[in-house]
Amino acid sequence: MSSRNILITGGAGFIGSHVVRLFVNKYPEYKIINLDALTYAGNLENLSDVDQSSNYLFEKVNILDADALSQVFARHHVTDVIHLAAESHVDRSIHSPLDFVYTNVIGTVNLLNAAKQYWKENLDQHLFYHVSTDEVYGALGETGLFTETTAYHPNSPYSASKASSDHFVRAYAETYHMRTVITNCSNNYGPYHFPEKLIPLFINNIITKKPLPVYGDGLYTRDWLYVKDHALAIDLVFHKGEKDETYNIGGFNEWKNIDLVKLLCKLMDEKLGNAPGTSETLITYVKDRPGHDRRYAIDASKINKELGWKPTVTFEQGLSETIDWYLSNQEWLNHVTSGAYQSYYQNMYANR
Ligand code: NAD
Ligand code: TYD
Repeated sequence: MSSRNILITGGAGFIGSHVVRLFVNKYPEYKIINLDALTYAGNLENLSDVDQSSNYLFEKVNILDADALSQVFARHHVTDVIHLAAESHVDRSIHSPLDFVYTNVIGTVNLLNAAKQYWKENLDQHLFYHVSTDEVYGALGETGLFTETTAYHPNSPYSASKASSDHFVRAYAETYHMRTVITNCSNNYGPYHFPEKLIPLFINNIITKKPLPVYGDGLYTRDWLYVKDHALAIDLVFHKGEKDETYNIGGFNEWKNIDLVKLLCKLMDEKLGNAPGTSETLITYVKDRPGHDRRYAIDASKINKELGWKPTVTFEQGLSETIDWYLSNQEWLNHVTSGAYQSYYQNMYANR
């Protein structure tokens, strides 16, 4: 691909900001248009190191606004889309499922329509890349892995909305011959992760000496991937992925929540100069999440064999870098946890 004008949606969020940074720095010949509504999860501070670059620009647009989307395609001659904008937190989806239907389903269809209208008969010369999650596959028992052919079986309003958006992307490929690709990735962690998700929430609570609310028996399993490795996978799939294919992306890195929390406590104690065992005293078992998926684990052998991708950092390295980042960016943490975050926390954890 030579010169591209790539619309990255959700670029002010956690994963999106890493993808924007990678593309802006690595591809000076591309124009990167970051489109984001700046919800509670979107923060332009996440991009302060690249926002002055000449190949970067920002559009504050909600993907529910179909007219505004069409104008953005026309104004910037968008050649390709990498779609990350979404409501992304399972617990919020349990409280407000419709928000997830609006943004994740209707927003995605709006974006598909805007792309289809703008690209017209040249649909096969452009790429619509949809970033999705392993949660669409539902829950695994003690064994087994999600492959690209595992049947969809979403259990939360979040995963149901992402599954629906995946189906729409597939349908546009089939029906209108739009060139698409979908990746389904496991749990990410790393810098700029909003502290409502397990790892950043617990880092923040350890710093502020608040309880660490472990849901249920703590034996739920997730497969963790460093966010920069996800961004590298997206780069690879964007450039080398096969038309209309799906690729699973995962860390080959399963952890039971309680084991991960204990490792986090140990690393935090070391870095904070606490006596061993200090942070573990904050662990508090709380009421379980309804419909809590027992285990996720990705078989990432297709992207590994076909495109040569594999994670570049070990979990210990990634987690250590992540903790260091939060410890040296407490101003960022203070900004995102002031205001609305306090009432969110109060509502989400008051009755657990
Ligand atoms: P995030 O919540 O940190 O960021 C989402 C971004 O989308 C924010 O910047 C927000 O402002 C923006 N946004 C939300 N609603 C919007 C709307 N209506 N219009 C325009 N922008 C809107 O999410 P994330 O963790 O970075 O996830 C990004 C994508 O990756 C999502 O599609 C998510 O489903 C997928 N994903 C996430 C993970 C993970 O572990 N975080 C794993 C696999 C896949
Ligand atoms: P989360 O980071 O919300 O990601 P997801 O639900 O998309 O996998 O949660 C990761 C795991 O941690 C999940 O099993 C739920 C659990 N969890 C807790 O035990 N306590 C918490 O406060 C949170 C936010 C999550």
